[in-house]
Amino acid sequence: MQMDAAVIATDEIIVQEIGRSDLWDEYDSKKIHKIIKAHDGEKTSVISILLDIQKEYNYLPKHALEIVATELDMFLSEIYSIATFYKAFSLKPRGKHIVTVCLGTACHVRGGSKIADALSRGLSVEPGETTQDRQFTLETVNCLGACALGPVVVVDEEYHGNMSVGNVERLLKKYRRG
Ligand code: FES
Repeated sequence: MQMDAAVIATDEIIVQEIGRSDLWDEYDSKKIHKIIKAHDGEKTSVISILLDIQKEYNYLPKHALEIVATELDMFLSEIYSIATFYKAFSLKPRGKHIVTVCLGTACHVRGGSKIADALSRGLSVEPGETTQDRQFTLETVNCLGACALGPVVVVDEEYHGNMSVGNVERLLKKYRRG
């Protein structure tokens, strides 16, 4: 592949921006190579490869993106644009449990933002953040498609409707235990 100077420069900026993982080891590298091999190292499978990596780590570690770029003979900037284009991918470490609270109109009028505040307090994180123990990531959305059940919270794709502030701690306890 003929390297374009501008693309190389972009790749260098990306590496600087996303940094390098301190916690990465040889075992992780082998895991990524195995995932790529499972897709026959096909460039056309790049999204499936990234999805498998995300499934493994709950996010896309920067070092993994570098390996994918090298193995698929793609520019890191190309991998990075795919990873940032799709909402399914995260470049930031995410918790074992993803807690999504709806702030859409139907949920909002029934106290959705109070639920979001209670979750924030219970987890000691703001929406978009992950707890220090990497157990929970708190996210907000504008509709979960279950307005009649509002206010709605989804944890790991499990819907919890008619939520109240009083239920929040019980809900978190359930996942802390589990
Ligand atoms: S507005 Fe909350 S589920 Fe639709």
